[in-house]
Amino acid sequence: MEPRPRPLAVAVNALLCVLSLCVSAAEAENVTTYDAKNFGAKGNGVDDDTKALVAAWKKACGTPGTVTLVIPPGTYYIGPAHFHGPCEALAITFLLQGVLMAATDLKRFGNDWIEFGWVTNLTVVGQNGGVIDGQGAASWPFNKCPVRKDCKVLPTSVMFLNNQNTVVRDITSVNSKFFHIALLHNNNMRMSNLRIHAPENSPNTDGIHIERNTGVIISDSRIGTGDDCISIGQGNHNIYIARVHCGPGHGMSVGSLGRYVGEGDVTSIHVTDMTFQGTMNGVRIKTWENSPTKSLAARMLFENMVMKDVQTPIIIDQKYCPYYNCEHRYVSGVTLEDIKFKNIKGTSTLPVAVLLRCGVPCHGVVLQNVDLIYNGQAGTLSHCENANATYVGYQHPKPCV
Ligand SMILES: *[C@@H]1O[C@H](CO)[C@@H](O)[C@H](O)[C@H]1NC(C)=O
Ligand SMILES: *[C@@H]1O[C@H](CO)[C@@H](O)[C@H](O)[C@H]1NC(C)=O
Ligand SMILES: *[C@@H]1O[C@H](CO)[C@@H](O)[C@H](O)[C@H]1NC(C)=O
Repeated sequence: MEPRPRPLAVAVNALLCVLSLCVSAAEAENVTTYDAKNFGAKGNGVDDDTKALVAAWKKACGTPGTVTLVIPPGTYYIGPAHFHGPCEALAITFLLQGVLMAATDLKRFGNDWIEFGWVTNLTVVGQNGGVIDGQGAASWPFNKCPVRKDCKVLPTSVMFLNNQNTVVRDITSVNSKFFHIALLHNNNMRMSNLRIHAPENSPNTDGIHIERNTGVIISDSRIGTGDDCISIGQGNHNIYIARVHCGPGHGMSVGSLGRYVGEGDVTSIHVTDMTFQGTMNGVRIKTWENSPTKSLAARMLFENMVMKDVQTPIIIDQKYCPYYNCEHRYVSGVTLEDIKFKNIKGTSTLPVAVLLRCGVPCHGVVLQNVDLIYNGQAGTLSHCENANATYVGYQHPKPCV
C-alpha cells in the first residue's frame, strides 16, 4: 500500500470544511483498520488473548500508511503484552473500546504489563469505555517496597518507553499492581482525559510516573490512588501539567531525586490549575539526603492550586531518607533553583502547611499569594531550614523569619 502523504490529507480535509462538507479525518485519509477479533482475540474475560493482541499489533505496525487497531467491546484477559516498533505505519492508533484485564499470576510478569515501545506517532485512545484493569488487589499483599529498599517491584500497568509523538486520551486505568502509567525516555507526549484510580491504601499505585522524558503534557484528568498522583522523576525537561484533580493519595511530587548514580537534571516544570482533595501532600519536591551524584532541579512553577483537606500543601524536603536511620551527616547533592509557588489556597489538616527543608540553601524559592488555613484550632505555620525564600503578596501561614 502507498503511504499517503499526511499534509495532502490535511489540505483535502480543510478544503472540504471550507465547503461546509466537513468529513472526519478517518474518511479523508486512507486509514487501514484492523480488528483484534480477526486475529483470534475472544474478549470473553476467560481465554488468554495475549497472543492474539500481539499478533494484531504486529500486523498493524507492519502496515504502511495510517493504521488503526480496534480492540472492540469485550474483556480481554492478557498477560504481559509488548506492543513494539519501529513500525512501517506512519501513524498508528490503538483504539480501545473494551477492557484489558491483567492476569494475576505474578510469575508471568517482568517490570510491566502493557508496554508501548519504540513507536513514532502512536495514539492510544479509549472509546465507550476503554478500561485498563490491573487486577492489583491480588498482588498488593506481595509488595514489600513500602518497607524494604531491596524489594522486588511489581509490574506497572502501562509503560511507554522510547516513543516519539504519542497521544493518550480517554483511558481509564484501575487497580494497577504497581504504578498505573510510567513514561520512560519519550519525546513529545500528550495525555488528557484520563481516569486513574485505586484504593487509598493500595501500595505504590502511583498514577503517572515520568522519568527521562522531554516534552510531556498531562491535562484534564482525575487521579486517585494509594501513592503519588503524578511523580516527576529524574531527567525530565519541559513538563506541563494542567487541570488534574488529585485525591486520595500522596499528591504531586517531584522526586525523589538523588537516589542513584548518574541521575539527570530536571528542568522547566510548569504545573497549573490543580485541585488536591484529601491528599497527604499538595506539591512536594523531595531529594535524598545522601545522594551519590550531583544534579540540578530548576525552573519550576506551581500555580493556581486549590488544596482541600491536604496534610501538608507545600513541601520541599531535601532530607528524604525513608529506609535508614539517617545520621543527617550528608546534604543532598541535588541543587534546587528557581522554584515558585503562586496562588496556592485552601485547607490543611496539619498545622505546618508550608515546609521548606533545604540541604544547602535553596536558590530562588519564591512564594507568592499563599492562603492556607488549618482545619484544626489555631492558624497554620511555616517551617524552614536553609530555605532563603522570597515572599511576594499575601502569606498565610506567615513566612519563616
Ligand atoms: C487505500 O489503501 C489501500 C490498501 O493499501 C489501497 O489498495 C488503495 O488504493 C488506497 N486508496 C487510496 C484512495 O489511496
Ligand atoms: C510521524 O508523523 C509525521 C507527521 O504527521 C510524519 O511526517 C512522519 O513521517 C511520521 N514519522 C514516522 C516515523 O512515521
Ligand atoms: C539568599 O537570597 C538572597 C536573594 O535572593 C541572596 O542575595 C543571598 O545570597 C542568599 N543567601 C544564601 C545564603 O544563599
